[in-house]
Amino acid sequence: MTMSDIAQAERLLAEAAASRWTHTQVKAYWDARDGSRYGEGMTTWVPHYKEAHQRLLRTLLAFLPANGRLLDLGAGNGRVARLVLEAHRTCHVTLIDLPNGMLKAAPAVLSEFSGRFDLCAGDMFSAAPVLTPSSFDAVISVFALSHAPTVAAYLRVYQDIYACLKPGGLFVCYDHVLGDAPVLTALNVAGWHEFLLGAQSSQQAHDVVVSTYQEDRPLALRQHVELLWQSDFRAVDVLFKHDIFAIYAGVK
Ligand SMILES: C[S@@+](CC[C@H](N)C(=O)[O-])C[C@H]1O[C@@H](n2cnc3c(N)ncnc32)[C@H](O)[C@@H]1O
Repeated sequence: MTMSDIAQAERLLAEAAASRWTHTQVKAYWDARDGSRYGEGMTTWVPHYKEAHQRLLRTLLAFLPANGRLLDLGAGNGRVARLVLEAHRTCHVTLIDLPNGMLKAAPAVLSEFSGRFDLCAGDMFSAAPVLTPSSFDAVISVFALSHAPTVAAYLRVYQDIYACLKPGGLFVCYDHVLGDAPVLTALNVAGWHEFLLGAQSSQQAHDVVVSTYQEDRPLALRQHVELLWQSDFRAVDVLFKHDIFAIYAGVK
């Protein structure tokens, strides 16, 4: 990687910043999206796809007892819930997502796990009223919390997650994050862009990067750690990091 790759990443980020989506646009986009094929081709835009998902699963399994209860925020079509239900024979998963989009595909994706999941249609950034306090052994969110519109919305959702976890319960998030300063964000985006070019045309790689930052409002890992501390999580750690992607966790 060279300084010109970093400069190119800065230009892509500036292009995205000039045409950011509003939170209403983000919700409307996802609430209209057909989720039946979501997840196909993910290895072309997610580096270390297998390793990171294995880490996520391994961590979750350590915290899910027999008949354990998992909440999946922004669960989409059930792609991640399916991995957990396959790996853990008795757990139950509650999937929250917007009503008219990806979630509609979940019953088909999870058809062989009937009775072990339920679907909750709603906004994950105001889900507290439907979540029973201290009722989940673990909460997971994959590529979804970065849709939070503001830092305050992140804090609120972390507080909601904390409240619905049992004592000792685990929150684990796999998502993309900013660098700790703009130059580090550009460095990480340059690394991701290089990865994308390995499997996609330069126009596709350009579009993936720009649309990601038009749509999402990621925070730096330092901010996530501080917000989780503020939400009373007693232990917080980063379990995986590569370019813009990270897995971070908190224990209640
Ligand atoms: C990139 S997809 C990830 C889906 C799933 N977690 C996965 O990894 O396969 C992001 C998901 O977040 C959901 N989402 C976006 N904004 C939301 C909101 N305000 N409330 C609930 N879900 C939301 C979308 O509908 C979509 O299913």
